[in-house]
Amino acid sequence: MTSPPRLAVVVLISGHGSNLQAIIDAASNGLPIDIVAVISNRPNVYGLERAAQAGIETALLQHKDFPDRDSFDQALVALIDHYTPELVILAGFMRILSADFVRHYTGRILNIHPSLLPKHRGLDTHQRALDSGDTLHGATVHFVTEELDGGPLISQAQVTVESSDNASTLAKRVLDKEHQLYPLAIRWFAQGRLKLDDSENVILDNKKIDQPIIYAPQDAIQ
Ligand code: GAR
Repeated sequence: MTSPPRLAVVVLISGHGSNLQAIIDAASNGLPIDIVAVISNRPNVYGLERAAQAGIETALLQHKDFPDRDSFDQALVALIDHYTPELVILAGFMRILSADFVRHYTGRILNIHPSLLPKHRGLDTHQRALDSGDTLHGATVHFVTEELDGGPLISQAQVTVESSDNASTLAKRVLDKEHQLYPLAIRWFAQGRLKLDDSENVILDNKKIDQPIIYAPQDAIQ
């Protein structure tokens, strides 16, 4: 019997790679993807070690070796396309991407961001959630478009902000949710259920979604 086809994906990282690990673990537990390469823009990060330990090909492309954003992004496109992925997954990839880069992968590039977008784009999201007095915080998976952290929203996982929270306790709870939220959205994509249409609407199971899907624990894929 032949196994069902698996989606070829490239994962881009810049650091610790805990989301990468969640995706690797999910792929060994029924998520129908093949991680064909993990690419980092920073050397010696733990995410590269995680990939190597899982037997996944790794590559390092350092932005500091390029004179400007466009030349780095062009080299990154060439490197990614060498692996011919059907999906590019940003997992803690801490670079602003040029419009040309993003356009090249329209509809086949996902990101996870540690806030309930459109709230708190950019950095220091947990501290900013606390400073704003938010009672709910969380993480969002979205298609990547030219707007920084502004692409069409797919799904969100929420956490309640406690009065005892600081940025680090909140970050930990959000990250735990990220590890469940991201593999689920990737599964929808791999199954052909999740798409971005030409007007940048998110389509799930042939229906346009106007609000992100709120993650519930029973959706977990493991
Ligand atoms: C995650 O919290 C991810 O959402 C965030 O970086 C962290 C990476 O952790 N990404 C962004 O802020 C992108 N704007 P990880 O390396 O352990 O997966």
